[in-house]
Amino acid sequence: MTTVDHQALREVTGPQLGLLHLIRLRHDPIGHSQWLRENYGEVSRMNFLGTQLYSVNGPDAFETIFVNRDKVFASGPAWSHFIGPFFTRGLMLLDFEEHLHHRRIMQHAFGQDSLRRYHAMMVPHIRRNLDAWPDIAQPRLHQMFKELTLDLALEVFVGVELDPADQKKINRAFIDAVRAGVSIIRRPVPGGGWARGLAARRVLEEFFRGALPAKRRDGGDDLFGQLCIAEDENGNAFSDDDIVNHMIFLLMAAHDTTTITMTSMAHQLARHPEWQQRCRDESVAAGDVDYDGGLRLDALDRVMKESLRLCAPVPSIPRTATRDTEIAGYFIPAGSIVAASPHQNHFLDDYWPDPTRFDPDRFSTERREDKVHRLAFEPFGAGVHKCIGMHFGGMQVRAIFHELLLGYRWSVPEGYEMPIDLVALPFARDGLPVTLQALE
Ligand code: HEM
Repeated sequence: MTTVDHQALREVTGPQLGLLHLIRLRHDPIGHSQWLRENYGEVSRMNFLGTQLYSVNGPDAFETIFVNRDKVFASGPAWSHFIGPFFTRGLMLLDFEEHLHHRRIMQHAFGQDSLRRYHAMMVPHIRRNLDAWPDIAQPRLHQMFKELTLDLALEVFVGVELDPADQKKINRAFIDAVRAGVSIIRRPVPGGGWARGLAARRVLEEFFRGALPAKRRDGGDDLFGQLCIAEDENGNAFSDDDIVNHMIFLLMAAHDTTTITMTSMAHQLARHPEWQQRCRDESVAAGDVDYDGGLRLDALDRVMKESLRLCAPVPSIPRTATRDTEIAGYFIPAGSIVAASPHQNHFLDDYWPDPTRFDPDRFSTERREDKVHRLAFEPFGAGVHKCIGMHFGGMQVRAIFHELLLGYRWSVPEGYEMPIDLVALPFARDGLPVTLQALE
């Protein structure tokens, strides 16, 4: 274990965050982070909603955190601080040996064969959902993607037939649990978001626990069924409690992230109709694609990557320093929460030429600008906690956009820019209103 010489290291400094800073942080996070970097260096300190955060900039500093050679940085305590008791013992909230043990078992449910089956289950649902879009007045794509993702989650994740009342109850509980994590008042005040989140957690636990015996008995190609039979190479499997905890967390981890990715892609494709047409031509040429065919939608893949760069769905990744340590020559005391921001990294002009420009071809095989540093592009995180659902998410997004491009053309008025709320995850404040035209 490396010991830390406090005296030889720089002290982290930062601004006293007043209202003006918070407004700037919310409306211009990139400008704010450049300002922090210029004034306080690669690591700076700030107070965010009552929590002291050590904000870390640049891929080299990221490497210290994510490679985590001395196992100093823990994910569980840091994420628990933000998403509280609603997602307890989800994979991202476990650390070190225990995390590895669970991840090895869970990996089984994310292998190529499972992904092929999830894809086959998804496509008819996507088509059915998209068929109803012409009837939607004043389409707001963020909302429509959110509903579609919830629909798919019940089918592909849970795979349990529910009557409409139960479906509504589970959807509601799930939304309340996700929202609770970003409550400003982080105590169970009656009627408040935190209390609703705790109640929602109980509903979800009850639901999964109730459905578990049948799922264990009958199995299924859905994620729930796959977790019931998942084993690592030594035959270790999940307990009932593990499955309930992992299912609740997986629903959360998948839902907003894929919705945000699709909203960002739809925004870019509306603003860049030449790219929309290029992707449509590719989809028309590809025809009816299976999972492997989806992987060959090259233009669409570049658009997805570029949209993830410009709008990282998890803009900041926190860790707790379990001992005194250092990052980039700065002293970090034990117990500090450090926040690494992919969102900021994706705009550093040391690494990305013309970083604010939408340019999907920067990911082409000839250019591969993302390879300039191994941690320059990390919308899915890095190291041992790197997103286990990365290929699942990519598959779902490609499957939906393939169908969408074949069925519709969408546009926004000249000069429109989607306003993004970045207090927690980057949401479209206006829901992304578009003009939607069904194609023959
Ligand atoms: C485009 C969509 C997605 C994005 C951008 C995304 C992003 C991320 C990021 C940044 C992390 C790392 C967090 C950390 O290091 O603390 C992560 C972890 C995780 N993600 Fe995703 N995610 C996406 C989709 C999904 C999907 C579809 C699933 C499940 C089906 C999923 C399940 C998970 C899980 C379980 C973890 C924790 C992994 C671990 O701790 O070992 N994600 N995701």
